[in-house]
Amino acid sequence: MTNDSTRPEFWDPRYKLGDMPWDAGGVPKPLEQYLRQTHTIGRVLIPGCGSAYEVKAFADAGWDVLAIDFSVAAVTRAKKLLGDLSHCVRHRDFFKFKSPKGPFDLVYEKNFLCSLPPDFWPRYASRMRELIRPGGSLAGIFFHGCEDEPPPYPITDPQAASLFDTSFVLSDDQPMPEESRWQVWIRKSSRSGDPEYSS
Ligand SMILES: C[S@@+](CC[C@H](N)C(=O)[O-])C[C@H]1O[C@@H](n2cnc3c(N)ncnc32)[C@H](O)[C@@H]1O
Repeated sequence: MTNDSTRPEFWDPRYKLGDMPWDAGGVPKPLEQYLRQTHTIGRVLIPGCGSAYEVKAFADAGWDVLAIDFSVAAVTRAKKLLGDLSHCVRHRDFFKFKSPKGPFDLVYEKNFLCSLPPDFWPRYASRMRELIRPGGSLAGIFFHGCEDEPPPYPITDPQAASLFDTSFVLSDDQPMPEESRWQVWIRKSSRSGDPEYSS
């Protein structure tokens, strides 16, 4: 079994064995609240979706949902759990996939950034800049705790600021159990130097 969490071979056996300590078994409360309070709906991407419980919550609230994961075992599990909404889940690599309809209004993430080693984080932030339209949001649950044996790789406030501050503004930040935080980052308007989005 590989120890490299940037490869699907790390995740596949864990999903097959049911060894998924990150799996909440349902929709996180802050997302339910966000969906109740947010009246603008549109297209949402869920990268590193795992079991993808959130797909139904977004679809029920009127969002056009695309959930992706590069682990075949995760995608198989999510499709089985979602039934009629299984078409919303695709087997894709976040760093390589091309959005069929252009940038998204929202990217929702839970424990995806922290599954990546910190040297991947600048690529993550760059992809988010490409995939989220100006004025759109990156919302979700970020792990800010301590970990002796990562993954998960926790993030600190200064690290988050250096990753996101040039292109995003933090508009909501709430503590959650287990040293996680619910955060909403709003994508700033395009500026010179930002990579152009191409689909
Ligand atoms: C810690 S799990 C979180 C899963 C889910 N978001 C949750 O909270 O239950 C991280 C997920 O990211 C997926 N993943 C990691 N790198 C990826 C990549 N480059 N593209 C797509 N999915 C990726 C893994 O397969 C795994 O399902």
